[in-house]
Amino acid sequence: MEILQVNHLSKHYKTKTAVNNVQFSLPSEKCIALIGPNGAGKTTILRILAGLLKPSEGTVSFQGLDANADIRPYIGYLPQYPVFHGWMTAREFLMYSGQLAFLSKSETTKRADEVFDQVGITKEARDERINRFSGGMKQRLGIAQAIIHSPKMLILDEPVSSLDPIGRREVLTLMEKLKQEMTILFSTHILGDAEEVSDELLLLHNGDIVESGAMEHLRAKYQTTKIELGFESNLETYQQQLDSFPEVTNSHIDRNLLHVTTTDIAKTRSNILQLAANKNWPLTTFSISRATLEDMFMKVVNQ
Ligand SMILES: Nc1ncnc2c1ncn2[C@@H]1O[C@H](COP(=O)(O)OP(=O)(O)OP(=O)(O)O)[C@@H](O)[C@H]1O
Ligand SMILES: [Mg+2]
Repeated sequence: MEILQVNHLSKHYKTKTAVNNVQFSLPSEKCIALIGPNGAGKTTILRILAGLLKPSEGTVSFQGLDANADIRPYIGYLPQYPVFHGWMTAREFLMYSGQLAFLSKSETTKRADEVFDQVGITKEARDERINRFSGGMKQRLGIAQAIIHSPKMLILDEPVSSLDPIGRREVLTLMEKLKQEMTILFSTHILGDAEEVSDELLLLHNGDIVESGAMEHLRAKYQTTKIELGFESNLETYQQQLDSFPEVTNSHIDRNLLHVTTTDIAKTRSNILQLAANKNWPLTTFSISRATLEDMFMKVVNQ
């Protein structure tokens, strides 16, 4: 089922088209990554979806509501550069955020502890001043304010880009957990982060969606055609045999591995494995390289 549909959405600034007639829909209860280099238009799209910026053209429809209806009650948003008042405690900040989202004081008090538990802010830290928090803790607090009103969809703009490896791990783990409960749309230019937590991808380049779909589907589509083989010795002998397969277009030896390029990965795989079994080849490595998101992105952008 779809949670959100975007139709012919554009955003023009005076001299710049930041988003150019994009069209996509988001499946519910998934984690979707919006990937693109600096200036691709990620923040612009996310701010429009969060109801903070008006599009120049196009509509956003949320699960059965009228197009361009006020969807803010259903959406939680963490900006790319969140600003906190360092003198506030985490609890004061959540109380303030809850009331901004039109929760009553008593509802917010109750929700605050639930949300602190959910994002993993300890009981002691809840009443600490925010300026004592690490980057990772601040980002958890940012996510806490975004989910205080129990939204159906959580929008996170570059939630891990500014964090060190420990903070990044903490926040990615938290996203893994939250995606069981709500749809998450997050932007990143770090492909490894998208690879780690997202189920679906939207690739954005110069304000256009240039590719989209389920991670597994895109992997299959951009599957590379390389197999790496290791043998106990005599790589050259095996190389000659593999070169005799008509679908093998290239092979070379590098760092004790035989790298084989083929036009038909399934056929070459079965040929190699049959030969290896029949002739008792001393195989030590057999791996088919997976298309990384980076390969995919470079291919799409250079088309
Ligand atoms: N208020 C504005 N006025 C004019 N141009 C703008 C404005 N906001 C954004 N832009 C331009 O629109 C384009 C898209 O910007 P946006 O911030 O959406 O990109 P982004 O993908 O989020 O980039 P980053 O990875 O750097 O955060 C950029 O070229 C940017 O310079
Ligand atoms: Mg941005």
